[in-house]
Amino acid sequence: MDLYKAIKERRSIRRFKADPVPKERVEKILEAALWAPSGMNRQNWFFVVLTGERRDALIDIVGSSYEHIAPVLREVFAEKPKVVDFTKRFFKGLGGAPVLVFAYYEPTKERPETSIQTVAAAIQNLLLSAHAEGLGCCWMTGPVHVADRINRFLGIEDKTLVAVIPMGYPDESPPAPQRRTNRVVYEGF
Ligand SMILES: Cc1cc2nc3c(=O)[nH]c(=O)nc-3n(C[C@H](O)[C@H](O)[C@H](O)COP(=O)(O)O)c2cc1C
Repeated sequence: MDLYKAIKERRSIRRFKADPVPKERVEKILEAALWAPSGMNRQNWFFVVLTGERRDALIDIVGSSYEHIAPVLREVFAEKPKVVDFTKRFFKGLGGAPVLVFAYYEPTKERPETSIQTVAAAIQNLLLSAHAEGLGCCWMTGPVHVADRINRFLGIEDKTLVAVIPMGYPDESPPAPQRRTNRVVYEGF
């Protein structure tokens, strides 16, 4: 798949088919994620990938994060109540995604910005690789509001949750949101 085509075609997917995703396919995608660049080459990312009963058991906890984002969401989309309704439904069931990826970093002595960007680079690799494999994802930071509960469930004590990524075969083809213009300044060309 052409890289530029993949970058532009990838969409955030919020409705998934129930079909299970073969483990080898998930492994291939996570392997590509780990080929991202990382600050000081620390590779201090960490991923937990759940499916089946383990995934089912976490859905309610992740969904409870909706209450934390609801006030801002209602404000930002005051003119678009359908977006608020859709987002609520998405958070509550994660679009039926059969796989959930929890993206963490192991803290270092430096400021957290480097680690967050390290994990973000890996997440973008993951999203593009999933797209190349015919899968869809949605990068979500909303669930970080309930990181303590998620960590307790997963038994994680010494890592920082950056994002949750539902993954599965897409059951929708959302249109591409327009990209903002004038976001780059070129000088000296
Ligand atoms: C850092 C980050 C956090 C995001 N958090 C959420 C989220 O909590 N819930 C959600 O539905 N989408 C979330 N998104 C997805 C964005 O809404 C989406 O990328 C944006 O609307 C552009 O759409 P596209 O991904 O289809 O190009 C997040 C994306 C990024 C990069």
